[in-house]
Amino acid sequence: MGIDLITKRIEKANAKMDKRGLNNLLFYKAEAREFITHIPESTRVNNTFLMFPDPWPKHKHHKRRLIQPSFLELLAKKTRSTGHLFFRTDHTPYFEWTLELLEQSSFWHLVDQTIPFEHSSYFQDLLPEFNTCSACVSH
Ligand SMILES: C[S@@+](CC[C@H](N)C(=O)[O-])C[C@H]1O[C@@H](n2cnc3c(N)ncnc32)[C@H](O)[C@@H]1O
Repeated sequence: MGIDLITKRIEKANAKMDKRGLNNLLFYKAEAREFITHIPESTRVNNTFLMFPDPWPKHKHHKRRLIQPSFLELLAKKTRSTGHLFFRTDHTPYFEWTLELLEQSSFWHLVDQTIPFEHSSYFQDLLPEFNTCSACVSH
């Protein structure tokens, strides 16, 4: 399942899915926090991949970053006990921000796990470099 706020990104993902004849994917236009909040109690997420979320570089905009203590708590509560969070960004300050919040979090712990299903994307291919970290739900 893939989520983005922008209709065009969802349409492009659907077009690529159709072109490749894939039938186990679902792309949904949604705000990430809102979407996760409404995951029903009977359903739990396995892995979450946050790929190049907007870094909001200005200090006064840091509160708009998706990775916040409250977001990490919400996501952990919606994730299976064996689930992971994978985070990737080309923005080093956002990477450090995320590492720090994960280190401090009582809901996640950092693990040394490579991202499964590694595949480049249009956006990723434009970037000279990026960083990835992964975390496991804490019990
Ligand atoms: C830099 S682009 C990366 C796109 C894609 N994830 C990739 O890796 O190619 C950041 C994307 O995050 C989406 N986005 C930003 N805030 C979001 C939110 N709160 N919920 C869902 N999508 C969001 C934007 O619409 C934008 O398409």
